[in-house]
Amino acid sequence: MRSRAFVFARALVFASVVSALFSLHAAGQSITDVVAQRQQRMKAMAAAVKTMAGMFKSPETYSPAGFKDAAETIRRHSATSLQADFSAVTAAQGSEASELIAAERERFAQLSDDLERYAMAVASAASDSPGPMPQDMRMREGETVSGGPLAKRPRNAANEAAMSAEHAFHTMLGICTSCHARYRLRE
Ligand code: HEC
Repeated sequence: MRSRAFVFARALVFASVVSALFSLHAAGQSITDVVAQRQQRMKAMAAAVKTMAGMFKSPETYSPAGFKDAAETIRRHSATSLQADFSAVTAAQGSEASELIAAERERFAQLSDDLERYAMAVASAASDSPGPMPQDMRMREGETVSGGPLAKRPRNAANEAAMSAEHAFHTMLGICTSCHARYRLRE
């Protein structure tokens, strides 16, 4: 049998959805607009990832401005911007977003913030010199890609600052994957 607390929690979620829809309406945006816009931002992040991956793959194509722009695109769409994209609408028609987002705001926010941190770590570890990608941007000895979503990530800025760009990049991709694994539905 459903407990009263459960029923109460459902009522609270319902109330917050209703109030979120009112604020959407006030902003003049439809649910379809919100979904299309956030999917567009996700696609822009995927394109940025592709740009950076291409430079790791072919170091001679490295461009400091191109690389940093790509990292900046991801930073811009992360953290509070990413959270805002899902604040009023989670699951909806035409969307792959899971209802779990509404139930786990803190965890979703943490992943959004982690994405920002690593996008900045990628940018700050990138070389400013034109020409081929320098060796010091590459994964160093002792840095591992493995570990998956549950691997320990360094929690302090000093550790992040010491990361190679490539390591920060792979850690960042792990954050995309972790969030999708939990909050993005696929048939
Ligand atoms: C905090 C959670 C979260 C993070 C981090 C995240 N995503 Fe997403 N992503 C989602 C959700 C939820 C959807 C489904 C959105 C929808 O369909 O409404 C999605 C959808 C997408 C899509 C499909 C867009 C479409 O056209 O339907 C792409 C591509 C994508 N994400 C790429 C990325 C990349 C690349 C990163 C990392 C740089 C990333 N995402 C980080 C939650 C996240």
